[in-house]
Amino acid sequence: MIKLIKSTFYKERKIKDQLIRFIKSAKQLSFGQECIKFEQNFAKYQGRRFCISFNSGSSANLAIIQALLNMGKIKKGDCVGFSAVTWSTNVMPLIQLGLKPVPIDAELDTLNISSKKLLECAKKYPIKMLFITNLLGFCDDIDQIKKVCKEKKILLVEDNCESLGTIYKGEKLGNFGLASTSSFYVAHHISTIEGGVVCTDDRNLATMLKIVRAHGWDRNCTNSEQKEIRREFKVESSFYASYTFYDLGYNLRPMEIQGFLGNSQLQYVEEINKKRSENFMKLASQIYSLTDKYYPIRFDHIDFVSNFAVPVVCRSQKIIDKLIRKCKGIIEIRPIVAGDMTKQPFFRKYARKFIPKIRNSNASIIHEQGLYFGNNPELTKNDIKEIIKIFTSDK
Ligand SMILES: Cc1ncc(COP(=O)(O)O)c(C=O)c1O
Repeated sequence: MIKLIKSTFYKERKIKDQLIRFIKSAKQLSFGQECIKFEQNFAKYQGRRFCISFNSGSSANLAIIQALLNMGKIKKGDCVGFSAVTWSTNVMPLIQLGLKPVPIDAELDTLNISSKKLLECAKKYPIKMLFITNLLGFCDDIDQIKKVCKEKKILLVEDNCESLGTIYKGEKLGNFGLASTSSFYVAHHISTIEGGVVCTDDRNLATMLKIVRAHGWDRNCTNSEQKEIRREFKVESSFYASYTFYDLGYNLRPMEIQGFLGNSQLQYVEEINKKRSENFMKLASQIYSLTDKYYPIRFDHIDFVSNFAVPVVCRSQKIIDKLIRKCKGIIEIRPIVAGDMTKQPFFRKYARKFIPKIRNSNASIIHEQGLYFGNNPELTKNDIKEIIKIFTSDK
């Protein structure tokens, strides 16, 4: 069986040994210096001024929405556009925090939303923010999306949990919006077992994210941030400062274990992404050429595809049914991310009135006729051969 996930993290044996030594020698295992070091290293890798770490990508998504609300950059009741094909915890914080989640259809050939789809949606809804998902290591014309957002004063934030390292028009995905989130859950490009970050160049947002991350207090902020906050709120006593809560928050902190793993995984990130990209190219060149069976997937507009998993969208229900049967027991497969979010029970329960009344949306086709299989640096030549055989043979 070619599993979706082959290891907990890259170089698992070696890193586990190092992790044991780290745990034995560390004086502190709750959030501390390793996490801060990882934030600095990750910010440098991503090419952003600030990186704030969390205990998961979902927590990073929740925190960015809460931080934007706390800062008044968005308000309760605002319409927020999101990619109709995405992950549940991209959309859930919008509902949980009182925003109106407006799904934007994907393009069938990139699986991502385009500036055209955004414009169509913005005609119908007064969108204040776009929480775009860069799906599976791909994007559509995100440079144009950024332009439309600027023109229409739409706040752009990227959920980049699946696209670490992809480069489009010379820029890493995750650097097109005000901020972006990443996930380091097992099977993502780098894994800290559980973990995530928000990256941004906006200093005030970075400070607010730290407040949101831990109880609403400022204790994980830098000295200069603390000084500014305490001055603004006229908190003069350092005794009370340690238990002063400035705005709405949670406890979404990662542990030193995640910081340690993040630092060690980052050493290999280029190697991992290169392997993922090479695997993808080998698989895509064979599988996607069968355009009578599958819808074509376009990625030649992307400089470097740091692929998360390999999607296939079948041209008919019959084709996908047969493919699912063929993969059984041989290749582990899944629906494409969470499929069309508007078909999910939670969305129907809480956001029914935002379900567009269009039949056969691309998101719906991707939901009904799409699947993906795993890509990871541990895929062997034989795995790739076997996958190509299953996906291209007529038997
Ligand atoms: C697009 C997207 N956003 C958010 C998440 C959530 O990340 P995590 O599993 O770290 O909570 C995922 C998880 O796979 C994802 O694919």
